[in-house]
Amino acid sequence: MNIPEDRKRPTSGRAVDDPSYYRTEPVSFVRRGSRLQGRRLRAWEAYADQYLYEVPRDIADTSVDREAKFDQESVFGRLAPLTVEVGSGLGEALVAQAAEHPERDYLAVEVYTPGLAQLMLRAGKLGLTNIRTIQANAPEVFEFLLTPGSIDEVQVFFPDPWHKSKHHKRRLVKPSFAAHVARALKPGGLWRLATDWQEYAEHMREVLDPDEQFENVHDGWAPRFEGRVQTSFETKALKVGRSIYDLTYRRK
Ligand SMILES: C[S@@+](CC[C@H](N)C(=O)[O-])C[C@H]1O[C@@H](n2cnc3c(N)ncnc32)[C@H](O)[C@@H]1O
Repeated sequence: MNIPEDRKRPTSGRAVDDPSYYRTEPVSFVRRGSRLQGRRLRAWEAYADQYLYEVPRDIADTSVDREAKFDQESVFGRLAPLTVEVGSGLGEALVAQAAEHPERDYLAVEVYTPGLAQLMLRAGKLGLTNIRTIQANAPEVFEFLLTPGSIDEVQVFFPDPWHKSKHHKRRLVKPSFAAHVARALKPGGLWRLATDWQEYAEHMREVLDPDEQFENVHDGWAPRFEGRVQTSFETKALKVGRSIYDLTYRRK
């Protein structure tokens, strides 16, 4: 990969251990432990060849080379309706949908290595062939890698809420990300979101309700998406009495 000389240095002025060090935009994640052991290590070794799409990188290890292109047909060996889940965590929701809908293809975008290993373990045990994973920063995947107008559905379930106001700029759902999602979705394609954080739910609506590229399918909160299985993350939220907010937007 050819990185121009003037981009080989940090661009952000952030601390060297911040994953945004090489980026102008803050990222919506912090790097958590990426060491694999036991079952997850064995799953990675057994299944990464089958399930992990190797992303051409820019500078940082979760970045995406601006010239890289995701060729859906050659990656999946067919052209089927494609759902992309951002922040797939341990893969519960994505794997359940992929098992339920063999006629569709599913792409997980996640930075967390143990989460991806767990997803591959689940998918491998079921012998699923309609899943691929990408370990990269989602906004860059949407901006550079995915073909415009190629995605049928985007799902963002329980994104990190970044609840302190000084951290709001790190939230995944913001106008710049909405523009990347709008670019990648087919006209009529859906963007489903869910969160257990009321203030983030309202923020999502403040960003997406007035966005001219989207329409709110339900003119307010959406009913629970029946394809969204209850993840361990959601179970914890319900245990401490949180409410869950679902939203569905359609790309115009
Ligand atoms: C709170 S967890 C929710 C996981 C899962 N959706 C669930 O419901 O259990 C959010 C996940 O999003 C991932 N994430 C956050 N920002 C991301 C980004 N910019 N690109 C890719 N993954 C990201 C995190 O690593 C984390 O696993």
